Amino acid sequence: MGTVTLINNETGEKFEFNLIDCTRGPKAIDFSKLFETTGIFSYDPGYGSTAGCQSTISYINGKEGQLLYKGQPIQEIVEKYSFTDIAKLLITGEAPKNKEESEEFDLELRHRSFLHEGLINIFSAFPDNAHPMANLSSAVAALSTFHFDHKDMEHEGDYQTMARRIIAKITTLVAFSYRNSVGAPFIYPDISLSYVENFLYMLRAYPSGRLKYTRSGETTITPLEVQALDRIFSLHADHGQNASTTTVRNVASTGVHPYAAISAGINALWGPAHGGANEKVLDQLREIGDVKNVGKFIERVKDKSDPFRLMGFGHRVYKSYDPRAKAIKTLKDELHKKGITMDTKLSDIAEKLEEVALSDDYFKQRNLYPNVDFYSGIILSALKIPVQLFTPIFVIGRMPGWCAQVIEHMKNPHARITRPRQVYLGK
Ligand code: CMC
Repeated sequence: MGTVTLINNETGEKFEFNLIDCTRGPKAIDFSKLFETTGIFSYDPGYGSTAGCQSTISYINGKEGQLLYKGQPIQEIVEKYSFTDIAKLLITGEAPKNKEESEEFDLELRHRSFLHEGLINIFSAFPDNAHPMANLSSAVAALSTFHFDHKDMEHEGDYQTMARRIIAKITTLVAFSYRNSVGAPFIYPDISLSYVENFLYMLRAYPSGRLKYTRSGETTITPLEVQALDRIFSLHADHGQNASTTTVRNVASTGVHPYAAISAGINALWGPAHGGANEKVLDQLREIGDVKNVGKFIERVKDKSDPFRLMGFGHRVYKSYDPRAKAIKTLKDELHKKGITMDTKLSDIAEKLEEVALSDDYFKQRNLYPNVDFYSGIILSALKIPVQLFTPIFVIGRMPGWCAQVIEHMKNPHARITRPRQVYLGK
């Protein structure tokens, strides 16, 4: 283990701090005793240089554009596993070993996907047209009242039940939040359908349980649609200590119910700088309207007198292409080739935006590349998912990650309440 020496140039005092060897990536200085040792604290708004925890769940190498879940590259993992397999990997540390284990876990989630009838009543309190993210965070907070026993967990089984319950119910909560927001009756889960198919069913079906009736017969949910949504969920499953995951950990650090911490994470994700960007990307593409307007739009983004950003571009950690964005762009092209109807006009505008931005000095100098939210909306629209559900879809994808992170935090006997300091400049 190395050390670093900090010299106070005002007093000449020297202080030594240990370096922590991370298993991957740069070393960290252990500043946990910085204030006690030196009487000085650090200032790092936005925590760009600060680690708040130790973790084994996911790893990002921003320079190389690399993302690992439990040590495995995202590109390999999404080829090998379904979303529910990845959920199991994240919350238990082990992916299902075979098809039987995989199906067993998916089936367990299906059985747990029903909501308590009392919880369903909460939706009637929300006005029409409420954003599903607002409904969702409230409903997840309310879920803690129905499963209050998860407040104090001791055994591995307790953590697993807590995580599996919310991973299972989040699809139902998202579907109900949406249907409530458009005044449509709720469609209960159908446990004969897989996790992802069931979600699409709860969104799309008529009260009779039918999906759609046409002269040529009932339309179904196609395996290609299920595969596409599965891939989108998988690519969102965990992502280090981003703003919402940090929120989940910070709120959990006070000792609250884990679902209260996750509800706070949902609110943090909603913002347009974070998970809310996917909704805004589509708004921007529609506003641009035509590839011929791309140049003018990019000029507006670059104009610093107008604090206006190109949504779906840039990232705090990635300073090269976000590997999730790469996978989503490939998926978009594959789905188009396989016959899923895309809005080619929006897709062309997005590709032109990327082309113009990546060859422009403004974007090059700042290392701004498309992020996960840039192309996902085009695929979600092709799956007939309404725009206001884009961020709730991110919630479903991120749920296994939040659960794994909250479990990691709760099991850590050395975890402390989050309590940063401030640089006081007042009277
Ligand atoms: N469009 C135009 N300029 C940008 C953008 C953008 N999307 N992103 C960053 N910049 C500029 C910014 O103006 C600044 O320029 P200057 O140095 O001249 O002041 C520079 O790049 C650095 O920006 P920053 O705000 O210091 O970067 P950050 O690391 O604090 O912010 C970000 C990261 C994701 C919030 C930001 O890139 C952004 O607002 N992007 C658009 C919203 C978005 O797509 N969010 C989704 C993120 S990925 C999904 C997720 O995991 O949340």
